[in-house]
Amino acid sequence: MVPLSEVKPCQEIDPRDEMFLYVLRRLGQPRLARMQYMRQGARACSTVVHVVRHCFGHDAVDLRVLDFASGFGRVTRYLAEIFGKQNVWACDLQAGSMEFCRSTLGVNVLPSGPRPECLTIAEHFDLIFVSSLFSHLPRKTFGPWLTALAGILRPGGVIAFSVHGQDMVDPAIFPADGHLFVADSESDVLDVEDYGTAYVSDAFVQESIRCAFSKPVDVRLLHKGLCGAQDLYVISGDPARGVARLPDQPSLTGHVDSCVITPAGQLRLSGWAGSLDPADPADVIHVALDGLPLARCAIRLERPDVAAVLGKPHLRWSGFVLELGLPLPHDGTRLLEVKSQTKKGGEDQLLLASVADLVQD
Ligand SMILES: C[S@@+](CC[C@H](N)C(=O)[O-])C[C@H]1O[C@@H](n2cnc3c(N)ncnc32)[C@H](O)[C@@H]1O
Repeated sequence: MVPLSEVKPCQEIDPRDEMFLYVLRRLGQPRLARMQYMRQGARACSTVVHVVRHCFGHDAVDLRVLDFASGFGRVTRYLAEIFGKQNVWACDLQAGSMEFCRSTLGVNVLPSGPRPECLTIAEHFDLIFVSSLFSHLPRKTFGPWLTALAGILRPGGVIAFSVHGQDMVDPAIFPADGHLFVADSESDVLDVEDYGTAYVSDAFVQESIRCAFSKPVDVRLLHKGLCGAQDLYVISGDPARGVARLPDQPSLTGHVDSCVITPAGQLRLSGWAGSLDPADPADVIHVALDGLPLARCAIRLERPDVAAVLGKPHLRWSGFVLELGLPLPHDGTRLLEVKSQTKKGGEDQLLLASVADLVQD
């Protein structure tokens, strides 16, 4: 596996990509939306790497990886670089998405449809990653989709999928059967009856898992394990994968409030970064250009706003500001990466963007 910090993912974003259009609607500025899109892809991929390292070991090679419900490859573009394009399959039903993943990201593609019983995939996979599909499925297809995916897992394989947990909903309106479906989503193209917004109880998911697999499996729930937003279920029928002992990912969080490069090549960076574990605080920011270390700065500035909004007093000193001249040449295709690091060495990628995206007009 290529380390995530050394990966140079494809920077092209398809104009029909609803993951990008969603952040663009929220943030307003294409440049910020691109940064956020790339960052979320990298964060989701870091979770895949966390799972794979634990379950298959650090030196795992030639794993066959399926990014199911990949869309236009927000995460696939990272998986392609880490596992090798020939080892990665994307699968989605949105018009144009598979052509983009095949021709632009260079991965294998498979078609999907709205009904799980119609899935016709002959391949089998070591890892099936499903980010943010089950968090949108109605009750009637939740279990059948899990069953369909269980059927294309290799012996000893691992499935990881995300859901919206029941804790995101007012208990007073949460149904006793453990599944709440709202016929509304970020998508302008998918039928809201097939793809809305769903919230599930742990009991509902465990029962769906039990029905989907023909034999007992190990299950690990990582609370808010996907990008700090959705719960992640990791499943394997092979005890050797150690799924039940999968640790939480280091709980790092943060935000780049501003990152610009002046026309003269001066980088100005500010933001905050923190660890939700007070015993292992975020300590330092690393800046790299094309994977080569460029600068580091301490995380020491006062940010009472962060501490107040997150309700975490220990994040009061989570701010950072950095200014430096970038080395020549100021080639727009070069990739700038900003990472936070904890005292114990945990890392979180805060930004990965091309220099061209950061240059001030
Ligand atoms: C919230 S997006 C997540 C996309 C991608 N996994 C990511 O994290 O960027 C949900 C994706 O599920 C896809 N989807 C919905 N129903 C599907 C189905 N039946 N089969 C395959 N993909 C589906 C949508 O087209 C969309 O791309």
